[in-house]
Amino acid sequence: MAGGWLGGERVHLARCASTNDEASRLARAGAQHGTVVTADEQTAGRGRRGRSWHSPAGDNLYLSCVLRPDIEPLDVPPIALAAGVAVSDAVNAAGLETSVKWPNDVLCCGKKLAGILAEMSTHDQRLDYVILGIGVNLGNQSFPTELAARATSISLEGGDDDPTRFTERLLPCLEDTLDVYAAGGLGAIAPRWRERMHEGLLRIDVAGDAIEGMPRGIDDEGALLVEDAAGARHRIVAGDVELVGWLEAS
Ligand code: BTN
Repeated sequence: MAGGWLGGERVHLARCASTNDEASRLARAGAQHGTVVTADEQTAGRGRRGRSWHSPAGDNLYLSCVLRPDIEPLDVPPIALAAGVAVSDAVNAAGLETSVKWPNDVLCCGKKLAGILAEMSTHDQRLDYVILGIGVNLGNQSFPTELAARATSISLEGGDDDPTRFTERLLPCLEDTLDVYAAGGLGAIAPRWRERMHEGLLRIDVAGDAIEGMPRGIDDEGALLVEDAAGARHRIVAGDVELVGWLEAS
């Protein structure tokens, strides 16, 4: 069990549209910092860039936290980087090696195992709350055709896929990395993220332009640094980042 502020209040639902929506509803009603919502199934689970998140009933993790950090809205996106480090640590504790891919993926054997979606609510340009949503493929034995080449689960990779044990491992890791971020900013998280960074060739689509290159870490603002074949460095603040292996496979 997490012994601190994260998960002191917990809500578990058999089914909901999205745990991010449920957590957001609770936040609007005054839920405290650290409230955690989980579900067995999501009927409209969502990911970044308007994508859906495959959320069948069964042994996967769909978890959202209500966070009320004392930070500016501009400082919210790195929370997803910090969460990636925490998820990576929890999966390692479940017996698997992992890497992180900017901005919000956790990979195992080069395939996506988990995704993170941080959404915020602001009032008069001040941060009201953040909903940090985490989806981890624990027990999936198969995926829809369009995901099959790029997605995996803890079960498929031979790790400990028990949802209760995984959640109890994840919450302390998450609490720790969020505390480190709150105290030291991105500078305190960046080295931990860099250690876990997936080293494969990336293709990034930025407003219709494609860049291919190797990841070289993140800078002090959380932007991804990429070096192309000509040695030119690119700083990526937004865009669709895919492993070149995924593109070949799709
Ligand atoms: C991504 O990889 O694009 C992010 C996926 C985030 C999925 C999680 S599952 C729990 C929470 N509820 C949602 O609807 N989305 C997040």
